[in-house]
Amino acid sequence: MILPVIMAGGSGSRLWPLSRAFFPKQFLRLQGEHTMLQETLLRLDMQKSLAPLVICNEDHRFIVAEQLRQQDMLSNNIILEPTGRNTAPAIALAALTAMAAGDDPVLLVLAADHLIKDTAAFQKAIDKAAEFAEQDKLVTFGIVPTGPETGYGYIERGDEVGTGYAVARFKEKPDLNTAQSYVDSGRFYWNSGMFMFKASRYIDELRKFRPDILSACEAALGQIDVDLDFVRVEKTAFEKCPDDSIDYAVMEKTSHAVVVPLDAGWSDVGSWSTLWEVSDKDSKGNVCEGDVMLHDSSNNYVFAEEGLVATVGIENMVVVKTKDAVLVAKKDQVQEVKAIVEQLKREG
Ligand code: GDD
Ligand code: MG
Repeated sequence: MILPVIMAGGSGSRLWPLSRAFFPKQFLRLQGEHTMLQETLLRLDMQKSLAPLVICNEDHRFIVAEQLRQQDMLSNNIILEPTGRNTAPAIALAALTAMAAGDDPVLLVLAADHLIKDTAAFQKAIDKAAEFAEQDKLVTFGIVPTGPETGYGYIERGDEVGTGYAVARFKEKPDLNTAQSYVDSGRFYWNSGMFMFKASRYIDELRKFRPDILSACEAALGQIDVDLDFVRVEKTAFEKCPDDSIDYAVMEKTSHAVVVPLDAGWSDVGSWSTLWEVSDKDSKGNVCEGDVMLHDSSNNYVFAEEGLVATVGIENMVVVKTKDAVLVAKKDQVQEVKAIVEQLKREG
């Protein structure tokens, strides 16, 4: 059986002002009737999976428990981080928790904030990946790149092995020129941000490359306090853990990685412009959510959480109105909303 591990501790700051510190994007309903976390759970083949483990910030424990409950999923498989230390420690906590019972399951590590259109293709890729994981490989899922995105990891395809390829190189978030050369070479995939490996394999690699992270996570779990609903992580011990992602901490360094190509309509809803790209549009290329009126406007993303939003004569813009904030941005610059969030944080 496979143990799904859902990483749901990110802040999603590029979807400000809808995505907030107290309600990040993975818990939002951006399209359709389910939240992104729920979509992630619904996409799993539960015939082949154990009850999923969700790892998130303790501030979000009730949101997560409620969203699991709505899917008839048990909510006693939630690990609560007292603070975010990025994905390398988060996955270590999950792997150590899974192994604490004396088992060594194959972990299917998923982000809680991806859209995947073709569930059948996704599940097929997982079946292939599971075979590699059983052979002690660290499996990545490769997406054919459509441009030199610098927010992704890049995976260079090596020799063919079975239904996948050895990873010749893994480079997290390259600069634009490097990313362009990777795309031009035709040998690189984007890293989808989903992984599959045995819990023990991940822990062994972490011990090799980042023993500091591993020992901090062991210390934080050593004093584990399992109350009725949640696995809590000891605060002072976990605060000492270095902050790093699995991509830098393990994937760039390991020599046991393979890549399974994934063609399943994957997208990372990293920003408002990606959300515009993947959503259904009206005849003028606009995506409208909520109470919105447009006149002579094209290729915009307009979202009204509350109240009415009207636009006249605008193009390629993002307009998002929530209860207490309005964002107006050029669509091709909307990634930079992160800067506003940083500024807000500084100014409290
Ligand atoms: N529990 C927990 N704790 N989850 C976290 C934390 C944390 O401290 N930090 C991030 N996450 C969750 C996020 O909620 C998201 O679901 C997932 O982990 C990935 O984190 P991101 O911060 O979104 O990573 P990224 O988008 O910059 O990069 C990753 O994903 C790309 C594809 O979307 C990398 O794996 C890239 O290589 C990859 O291309
Ligand atoms: Mg992401």
